Amino acid sequence: KQNIYILGIESSCDDTSAAVIQNGKVLSNVVASQKIHEAYGGVVPELASRAHQQNIVPVVDQALEKAGISKEDLSAIAFTRGPGLMGSLLVGTSFAKSLAYGLNIPLIDVNHMQAHILAHFIEEENFKKPPFPFLAMTISGGHTQIVKVNNYFDMTVIGETIDDAVGEAYDKSGKILGLGYPAGPEIDKRAQLGNPKAFPFTKPKVDGLNFSFSGLKTAILYFIQKETKAHPNFIEENLNDVCASIQYTIIGILIDKLKKASKETGIHHIAIGGGVSANSGIRKALKDGEQKFGWTTYIPKFEYTTDNAAMIAIVGYLKFLESDFAEQDVMASARLKI
Ligand code: KG4
Ligand code: ZN
Repeated sequence: KQNIYILGIESSCDDTSAAVIQNGKVLSNVVASQKIHEAYGGVVPELASRAHQQNIVPVVDQALEKAGISKEDLSAIAFTRGPGLMGSLLVGTSFAKSLAYGLNIPLIDVNHMQAHILAHFIEEENFKKPPFPFLAMTISGGHTQIVKVNNYFDMTVIGETIDDAVGEAYDKSGKILGLGYPAGPEIDKRAQLGNPKAFPFTKPKVDGLNFSFSGLKTAILYFIQKETKAHPNFIEENLNDVCASIQYTIIGILIDKLKKASKETGIHHIAIGGGVSANSGIRKALKDGEQKFGWTTYIPKFEYTTDNAAMIAIVGYLKFLESDFAEQDVMASARLKI
Protein backbone atom coordinates (compact mmCIF):
# COMPACT_ATOMS: atom_id res chain seq x y z
CA LYS A 1 0.00 0.00 0.00
CA GLN A 2 1.22 3.45 -0.91
CA ASN A 3 2.02 5.84 1.92
CA ILE A 4 -0.11 8.95 2.24
CA TYR A 5 1.61 11.86 3.95
CA ILE A 6 -0.52 14.85 4.95
CA LEU A 7 0.89 18.10 6.31
CA GLY A 8 -1.59 19.84 8.62
CA ILE A 9 -1.41 23.53 9.47
CA GLU A 10 -3.33 25.18 12.33
CA SER A 11 -3.35 28.94 13.00
CA SER A 12 -6.89 29.80 14.10
CA CYS A 13 -6.13 31.39 17.45
CA ASP A 14 -2.87 31.79 19.36
CA ASP A 15 -1.06 28.51 18.63
CA THR A 16 0.94 28.03 15.45
CA SER A 17 1.07 24.32 14.74
CA ALA A 18 2.18 21.96 11.97
CA ALA A 19 1.93 18.17 11.91
CA VAL A 20 2.68 15.31 9.56
CA ILE A 21 0.45 12.25 9.45
CA GLN A 22 1.29 9.03 7.63
CA ASN A 23 -1.81 6.95 6.85
CA GLY A 24 -3.59 8.37 9.90
CA LYS A 25 -0.63 7.97 12.29
CA VAL A 26 1.08 11.04 13.72
CA LEU A 27 4.76 11.37 12.79
CA SER A 28 5.15 14.88 14.21
CA ASN A 29 2.98 17.53 15.86
CA VAL A 30 4.83 20.77 16.57
CA VAL A 31 3.05 23.54 18.50
CA ALA A 32 4.44 27.03 19.09
CA SER A 33 2.32 28.65 21.80
CA GLN A 34 2.34 32.43 21.93
CA LYS A 35 3.37 33.59 25.38
CA ILE A 36 2.94 37.25 24.49
CA HIS A 37 -0.79 37.23 25.36
CA GLU A 38 -0.23 36.33 29.02
CA ALA A 39 0.72 39.92 29.80
CA TYR A 40 -2.63 41.11 28.40
CA GLY A 41 -4.81 38.53 30.16
CA GLY A 42 -6.23 37.31 26.86
CA VAL A 43 -5.46 36.83 23.17
CA VAL A 44 -4.69 40.07 21.29
CA PRO A 45 -5.64 39.40 17.63
CA GLU A 46 -3.06 41.69 15.97
CA LEU A 47 -0.24 40.24 18.05
CA ALA A 48 -1.43 36.71 17.34
CA SER A 49 -1.37 37.30 13.58
CA ARG A 50 2.12 38.76 13.70
CA ALA A 51 3.44 35.89 15.81
CA HIS A 52 1.94 33.36 13.37
CA GLN A 53 3.86 35.06 10.55
CA GLN A 54 7.08 34.70 12.50
CA ASN A 55 6.42 31.11 13.58
CA ILE A 56 4.92 29.42 10.57
CA VAL A 57 8.04 28.72 8.50
CA PRO A 58 10.14 27.30 11.38
CA VAL A 59 7.18 25.30 12.73
CA VAL A 60 6.48 23.67 9.36
CA ASP A 61 10.20 22.97 8.83
CA GLN A 62 10.41 21.33 12.25
CA ALA A 63 7.33 19.21 11.62
CA LEU A 64 8.82 17.88 8.37
CA GLU A 65 12.20 17.31 9.97
CA LYS A 66 10.75 15.44 12.95
CA ALA A 67 8.67 13.31 10.61
CA GLY A 68 11.83 12.48 8.66
CA ILE A 69 10.36 13.42 5.30
CA SER A 70 10.85 16.24 2.83
CA LYS A 71 8.26 18.53 1.25
CA GLU A 72 8.42 16.50 -1.95
CA ASP A 73 7.10 13.41 -0.11
CA LEU A 74 3.84 15.15 0.84
CA SER A 75 0.58 13.92 -0.69
CA ALA A 76 -1.51 16.97 0.27
CA ILE A 77 -1.66 20.01 2.54
CA ALA A 78 -4.53 20.53 4.99
CA PHE A 79 -5.15 23.84 6.73
CA THR A 80 -7.66 25.37 9.14
CA ARG A 81 -10.07 27.49 7.14
CA GLY A 82 -12.14 28.57 10.17
CA PRO A 83 -13.68 29.36 12.56
CA GLY A 84 -11.19 31.58 14.36
CA LEU A 85 -9.54 35.00 14.29
CA MET A 86 -9.41 36.31 10.71
CA GLY A 87 -5.87 37.71 10.95
CA SER A 88 -4.62 34.41 12.34
CA LEU A 89 -6.49 32.21 9.86
CA LEU A 90 -5.13 34.23 6.93
CA VAL A 91 -1.55 33.35 7.80
CA GLY A 92 -2.11 29.57 7.71
CA THR A 93 -4.44 29.78 4.72
CA SER A 94 -2.06 31.77 2.50
CA PHE A 95 0.90 29.67 3.55
CA ALA A 96 -0.92 26.39 2.81
CA LYS A 97 -2.15 27.67 -0.55
CA SER A 98 1.25 28.75 -1.78
CA LEU A 99 2.98 25.59 -0.57
CA ALA A 100 0.39 23.32 -2.23
CA TYR A 101 0.60 25.38 -5.41
CA GLY A 102 4.39 25.27 -5.44
CA LEU A 103 4.48 21.50 -4.87
CA ASN A 104 1.54 20.91 -7.23
CA ILE A 105 -0.33 18.75 -4.71
CA PRO A 106 -3.93 18.93 -3.44
CA LEU A 107 -5.03 21.56 -0.92
CA ILE A 108 -7.58 20.52 1.71
CA ASP A 109 -9.63 22.97 3.79
CA VAL A 110 -10.52 21.92 7.34
CA ASN A 111 -13.17 23.13 9.77
CA HIS A 112 -11.48 23.62 13.15
CA MET A 113 -14.53 22.44 15.13
CA GLN A 114 -14.84 19.26 13.07
CA ALA A 115 -11.14 18.71 13.67
CA HIS A 116 -11.52 18.86 17.46
CA ILE A 117 -14.01 16.01 17.09
CA LEU A 118 -12.24 13.98 14.41
CA ALA A 119 -9.04 14.05 16.49
CA HIS A 120 -10.55 10.88 17.96
CA PHE A 121 -9.73 9.12 14.68
CA ILE A 122 -5.98 9.62 14.88
CA GLU A 123 -4.40 6.13 14.88
CA GLU A 124 -3.17 5.71 18.44
CA GLU A 125 -2.40 2.58 20.44
CA ASN A 126 -4.63 1.95 23.48
CA PHE A 127 -7.20 4.52 22.37
CA LYS A 128 -10.54 3.26 21.12
CA LYS A 129 -12.38 5.20 18.43
CA PRO A 130 -16.02 6.15 19.02
CA PRO A 131 -18.57 4.31 16.83
CA PHE A 132 -21.13 6.33 14.82
CA PRO A 133 -23.37 7.90 15.88
CA PHE A 134 -21.78 9.48 18.95
CA LEU A 135 -22.07 12.73 20.87
CA ALA A 136 -19.08 15.07 21.04
CA MET A 137 -18.75 17.91 23.50
CA THR A 138 -16.11 20.44 22.45
CA ILE A 139 -15.03 22.64 25.33
CA SER A 140 -12.27 25.23 25.06
CA GLY A 141 -11.42 28.90 25.42
CA GLY A 142 -13.26 29.68 22.20
CA HIS A 143 -16.02 27.12 21.96
CA THR A 144 -18.62 25.08 23.81
CA GLN A 145 -20.77 22.77 21.71
CA ILE A 146 -22.54 19.45 21.82
CA VAL A 147 -22.48 17.83 18.41
CA LYS A 148 -24.28 14.74 17.14
CA VAL A 149 -21.77 12.98 14.91
CA ASN A 150 -23.47 10.69 12.39
CA ASN A 151 -20.39 10.19 10.26
CA TYR A 152 -17.01 11.87 9.62
CA PHE A 153 -18.54 14.75 7.70
CA ASP A 154 -22.14 14.48 8.78
CA MET A 155 -22.46 16.37 12.06
CA THR A 156 -25.16 18.49 13.65
CA VAL A 157 -24.65 21.01 16.45
CA ILE A 158 -27.45 20.25 18.93
CA GLY A 159 -26.36 22.65 21.66
CA GLU A 160 -23.92 25.52 22.10
CA THR A 161 -23.14 28.47 24.30
CA ILE A 162 -25.22 31.60 23.83
CA ASP A 163 -22.46 33.79 25.32
CA ASP A 164 -19.05 32.84 26.82
CA ALA A 165 -17.21 29.57 26.17
CA VAL A 166 -16.52 27.34 29.17
CA GLY A 167 -12.77 28.08 29.04
CA GLU A 168 -13.61 31.78 29.14
CA ALA A 169 -15.68 31.15 32.26
CA TYR A 170 -12.56 29.64 33.86
CA ASP A 171 -10.27 32.40 32.62
CA LYS A 172 -12.59 35.27 33.59
CA SER A 173 -13.23 33.77 37.04
CA GLY A 174 -9.48 33.45 37.43
CA LYS A 175 -9.04 37.12 36.59
CA ILE A 176 -11.53 38.07 39.32
CA LEU A 177 -9.49 35.94 41.75
CA GLY A 178 -6.23 37.54 40.65
CA LEU A 179 -4.87 34.40 38.97
CA GLY A 180 -2.71 34.45 35.81
CA TYR A 181 -3.92 33.79 32.25
CA PRO A 182 -5.06 31.23 31.26
CA ALA A 183 -6.49 30.39 34.67
CA GLY A 184 -8.18 27.06 33.88
CA PRO A 185 -5.27 24.82 34.87
CA GLU A 186 -4.67 26.62 38.19
CA ILE A 187 -8.34 26.67 39.16
CA ASP A 188 -8.40 22.94 38.39
CA LYS A 189 -5.34 22.30 40.57
CA ARG A 190 -6.70 24.29 43.50
CA ALA A 191 -10.17 22.81 43.07
CA GLN A 192 -8.75 19.39 43.92
CA LEU A 193 -7.65 20.76 47.32
CA GLY A 194 -10.86 22.59 48.19
CA ASN A 195 -14.44 21.93 49.23
CA PRO A 196 -16.73 21.99 46.16
CA LYS A 197 -19.80 22.73 48.27
CA ALA A 198 -18.28 25.61 50.27
CA PHE A 199 -19.91 28.35 48.22
CA PRO A 200 -22.97 27.39 46.17
CA PHE A 201 -23.34 29.29 42.89
CA THR A 202 -26.63 28.98 41.05
CA LYS A 203 -26.62 27.33 37.66
CA PRO A 204 -28.10 29.36 34.77
CA LYS A 205 -31.44 28.31 33.35
CA VAL A 206 -30.98 27.92 29.62
CA ASP A 207 -33.41 26.23 27.26
CA GLY A 208 -32.71 22.97 25.50
CA LEU A 209 -29.12 21.89 25.09
CA ASN A 210 -27.62 25.38 24.99
CA PHE A 211 -25.22 26.78 27.56
CA SER A 212 -24.65 30.16 29.17
CA PHE A 213 -21.64 31.10 31.26
CA SER A 214 -21.71 34.89 31.46
CA GLY A 215 -24.15 34.93 34.39
CA LEU A 216 -21.90 32.68 36.43
CA LYS A 217 -18.98 35.05 35.91
CA THR A 218 -21.10 37.97 37.16
CA ALA A 219 -22.33 35.95 40.13
CA ILE A 220 -18.73 35.17 41.08
CA LEU A 221 -17.72 38.82 40.70
CA TYR A 222 -20.52 40.06 43.00
CA PHE A 223 -19.87 37.29 45.49
CA ILE A 224 -16.16 38.13 45.70
CA GLN A 225 -16.85 41.88 45.94
CA LYS A 226 -19.31 41.32 48.79
CA GLU A 227 -17.06 38.93 50.72
CA THR A 228 -13.86 40.98 50.39
CA LYS A 229 -15.72 44.06 51.59
CA ALA A 230 -16.47 42.24 54.84
CA HIS A 231 -13.15 40.30 55.00
CA PRO A 232 -10.30 41.86 53.00
CA ASN A 233 -8.34 38.58 53.08
CA PHE A 234 -11.29 36.52 51.88
CA ILE A 235 -9.66 35.40 48.61
CA GLU A 236 -6.32 34.38 50.14
CA GLU A 237 -8.01 32.46 52.94
CA ASN A 238 -10.59 30.68 50.79
CA LEU A 239 -8.99 30.38 47.35
CA ASN A 240 -9.07 26.58 47.13
CA ASP A 241 -12.68 26.41 48.29
CA VAL A 242 -13.72 29.15 45.85
CA CYS A 243 -11.95 27.33 42.98
CA ALA A 244 -13.55 24.01 43.98
CA SER A 245 -16.99 25.64 44.11
CA ILE A 246 -16.56 27.27 40.68
CA GLN A 247 -15.36 24.01 39.17
CA TYR A 248 -18.21 22.05 40.77
CA THR A 249 -20.76 24.47 39.29
CA ILE A 250 -19.22 24.45 35.80
CA ILE A 251 -18.98 20.66 35.67
CA GLY A 252 -22.55 20.39 36.90
CA ILE A 253 -23.67 22.57 34.00
CA LEU A 254 -21.74 20.50 31.43
CA ILE A 255 -22.86 17.12 32.75
CA ASP A 256 -26.53 18.18 33.05
CA LYS A 257 -26.59 19.08 29.36
CA LEU A 258 -24.75 15.93 28.32
CA LYS A 259 -27.26 13.83 30.26
CA LYS A 260 -30.08 15.64 28.53
CA ALA A 261 -28.46 15.24 25.10
CA SER A 262 -27.88 11.53 25.68
CA LYS A 263 -31.47 11.03 26.79
CA GLU A 264 -32.93 12.96 23.87
CA THR A 265 -30.84 11.25 21.21
CA GLY A 266 -30.61 7.81 22.80
CA ILE A 267 -26.84 7.91 22.18
CA HIS A 268 -24.55 6.67 24.96
CA HIS A 269 -21.17 7.03 23.27
CA ILE A 270 -19.75 10.34 24.45
CA ALA A 271 -16.51 12.00 23.33
CA ILE A 272 -14.90 15.25 24.44
CA GLY A 273 -12.34 17.58 22.90
CA GLY A 274 -10.88 21.06 23.34
CA GLY A 275 -8.50 22.45 25.97
CA VAL A 276 -10.93 22.13 28.88
CA SER A 277 -11.01 18.34 28.40
CA ALA A 278 -7.74 18.40 30.31
CA ASN A 279 -9.77 19.28 33.41
CA SER A 280 -9.54 16.63 36.14
CA GLY A 281 -13.11 17.22 37.28
CA ILE A 282 -14.69 16.78 33.86
CA ARG A 283 -12.61 13.65 33.22
CA LYS A 284 -13.78 12.15 36.49
CA ALA A 285 -17.40 13.15 35.92
CA LEU A 286 -17.33 11.48 32.50
CA LYS A 287 -15.83 8.28 33.88
CA ASP A 288 -18.47 8.29 36.64
CA GLY A 289 -21.07 8.62 33.87
CA GLU A 290 -20.03 5.18 32.62
CA GLN A 291 -21.34 3.63 35.86
CA LYS A 292 -24.15 6.05 36.54
CA PHE A 293 -25.67 6.52 33.10
CA GLY A 294 -24.29 3.61 31.06
CA TRP A 295 -22.10 5.85 28.92
CA THR A 296 -18.99 4.80 27.04
CA THR A 297 -16.65 7.79 27.06
CA TYR A 298 -13.77 8.82 24.83
CA ILE A 299 -11.08 11.25 25.95
CA PRO A 300 -8.21 11.89 23.53
CA LYS A 301 -4.56 12.25 24.45
CA PHE A 302 -3.87 15.68 25.94
CA GLU A 303 -1.84 16.95 22.98
CA TYR A 304 -4.78 16.27 20.68
CA THR A 305 -7.33 18.11 22.85
CA THR A 306 -5.79 21.60 22.82
CA ASP A 307 -5.33 23.41 19.51
CA ASN A 308 -2.92 21.36 17.38
CA ALA A 309 -2.23 20.53 13.74
CA ALA A 310 -2.42 16.73 14.10
CA MET A 311 -6.20 17.06 14.31
CA ILE A 312 -6.14 19.19 11.14
CA ALA A 313 -3.96 16.60 9.39
CA ILE A 314 -6.25 13.68 10.32
CA VAL A 315 -9.21 15.50 8.79
CA GLY A 316 -6.98 16.15 5.76
CA TYR A 317 -6.30 12.41 5.56
CA LEU A 318 -10.00 11.49 5.79
CA LYS A 319 -10.86 14.05 3.09
CA PHE A 320 -7.91 12.89 0.95
CA LEU A 321 -9.36 9.37 0.92
CA GLU A 322 -12.55 10.84 -0.52
CA SER A 323 -10.67 13.17 -2.94
CA ASP A 324 -12.44 16.09 -1.26
CA PHE A 325 -10.06 18.92 -2.20
CA ALA A 326 -10.22 22.72 -2.06
CA GLU A 327 -9.64 25.11 -4.94
CA GLN A 328 -6.86 27.72 -4.89
CA ASP A 329 -9.44 30.49 -4.44
CA VAL A 330 -10.72 29.09 -1.11
CA MET A 331 -10.90 31.81 1.56
CA ALA A 332 -10.48 31.80 5.32
CA SER A 333 -13.80 32.11 7.13
CA ALA A 334 -13.89 33.47 10.70
CA ARG A 335 -17.42 32.18 11.38
CA LEU A 336 -17.31 28.90 9.47
CA LYS A 337 -20.04 26.55 10.70
CA ILE A 338 -19.82 22.79 11.19
O1 KG4 B 1 -8.28 24.34 23.19
P1 KG4 B 1 -7.48 25.42 23.85
O2 KG4 B 1 -6.04 25.16 24.07
O3 KG4 B 1 -7.56 26.73 23.00
C1 KG4 B 1 -8.75 27.24 22.50
O4 KG4 B 1 -9.39 28.02 23.24
O5 KG4 B 1 -9.15 26.87 21.36
O6 KG4 B 1 -8.20 25.77 25.22
C2 KG4 B 1 -7.71 26.72 26.12
C3 KG4 B 1 -8.67 26.85 27.28
C4 KG4 B 1 -8.33 28.01 28.22
O7 KG4 B 1 -9.50 28.74 28.48
C5 KG4 B 1 -7.83 27.30 29.47
O8 KG4 B 1 -8.09 28.02 30.66
C6 KG4 B 1 -8.62 26.02 29.44
O9 KG4 B 1 -8.66 25.66 28.07
N1 KG4 B 1 -8.01 24.93 30.22
C7 KG4 B 1 -8.57 24.40 31.33
C8 KG4 B 1 -7.67 23.41 31.80
N2 KG4 B 1 -6.60 23.36 30.95
C9 KG4 B 1 -6.84 24.30 29.99
N3 KG4 B 1 -9.72 24.69 31.94
C10 KG4 B 1 -10.01 23.98 33.04
N4 KG4 B 1 -9.20 23.03 33.56
C11 KG4 B 1 -8.04 22.70 32.98
N5 KG4 B 1 -7.26 21.75 33.49
ZN1 ZN C 1 -9.85 24.97 19.32
